[in-house]
Amino acid sequence: MTAEAPIALENVSYSYGKGDMRKQILFNISTSIQPGEIIILTGPSGSGKTTLLTMMGALRSAQEGSVRILGQELKAAKYRTQMKVRREIGYIFQSHNLLDCLTISQNVKMALQLAGVSNRDGKARIKNVLERVGLGEHLHKYPSQLSGGQLQRAGIARALVNRPRIVLADEPTASLDKQSGRDVVELIQELAREDGAAVVLVTHDNRILDVADRILHLEDGHMRSLTEAVSEGTSRMLNLLEKHDPNQASYLATFAFALARVAYADDKVTMEERDEMRRILKEFAELKDSEVNFVMEMSMMQKRAQTELSNQSTQEGFDGERKQLLVDSLYAIAEADGRVSEEELQEIHAITAEFGLENRAR
Ligand SMILES: Nc1ncnc2c1ncn2[C@@H]1O[C@H](COP(=O)(O)OP(=O)(O)OP(=O)(O)O)[C@@H](O)[C@H]1O
Ligand SMILES: [Mg+2]
Repeated sequence: MTAEAPIALENVSYSYGKGDMRKQILFNISTSIQPGEIIILTGPSGSGKTTLLTMMGALRSAQEGSVRILGQELKAAKYRTQMKVRREIGYIFQSHNLLDCLTISQNVKMALQLAGVSNRDGKARIKNVLERVGLGEHLHKYPSQLSGGQLQRAGIARALVNRPRIVLADEPTASLDKQSGRDVVELIQELAREDGAAVVLVTHDNRILDVADRILHLEDGHMRSLTEAVSEGTSRMLNLLEKHDPNQASYLATFAFALARVAYADDKVTMEERDEMRRILKEFAELKDSEVNFVMEMSMMQKRAQTELSNQSTQEGFDGERKQLLVDSLYAIAEADGRVSEEELQEIHAITAEFGLENRAR
């Protein structure tokens, strides 16, 4: 018998308000999430992400459909069942929710006490978890003495100290700069993998999508597959590129997708590879920074969704100079993090073969 997924939703719908004011927010959502799996939940503001996440976290009662969390049905569940489930979940919110009057280590200790762990066992665990999030030097500081990124990491330590089987994070990077945001997400990822927790991470931040094993996309309360989201995003990207230069649009899109393929070849896109991709795209087309980012993230999403948008005819647009530029750029991405891996080389060979390009010997 295979064990039940820690999170299993079936035909879940949800409405706020009563009578005439009643408004349906979630529509027939079904999905299940396995131990060790990291899900990123995306979607526009107001699409229902927080509502769905709080329902998974037993912080909001289920109304319609089945919400099974750690084997417990939460629809029409007793308060006691909800509480029991909540104790097995680590919550990470946008604001860190630490108590200002307690030190970092006392804040983490409180979470342990709430879970009924004895003081003696607790001490070592607190120290260990705070070291894992890089706060070993700051155990006895108060929240007001730490930076935003450090506070968010303390919040993660507090959420994870009980080794929860489910981790739910709502916009954990919203108040952080680019690098700390990425660090925080990679930290959640690492800890979740080690402990085999199922993770759901809500984010607006396209820069961290590559951390996910799977991306779920909400649009007006409907769950959409990544493929559907990508095809919509792709047409937006092409519109944007066409406004700049109609003749270049599909060529650029193809070009960006080829770069993404190399960046993804070894399954991990590093910061250096992203920077290099951004640099090449920027040099290449007169786009604003935000547009470059959008094109870059879209092509990475395409790669994730395995939906190639480029039609064959765009490949004909690659004349001699452009061919060389593409080949050079592919190598530049592969080399960005200091070494070219076997997977990256293979992907470059595959792309150059598909495009009928001559691959310079290396
Ligand atoms: N307590 C509430 N009562 C009534 N309506 C609510 C309540 N909470 C949220 N809503 C509405 O439900 C919809 C979904 O809200 P939700 O907070 O789930 O969106 P979200 O996707 O998390 O948005 P954001 O990205 O802005 O955080 C919105 O239209 C919101 O106005
Ligand atoms: Mg929200």
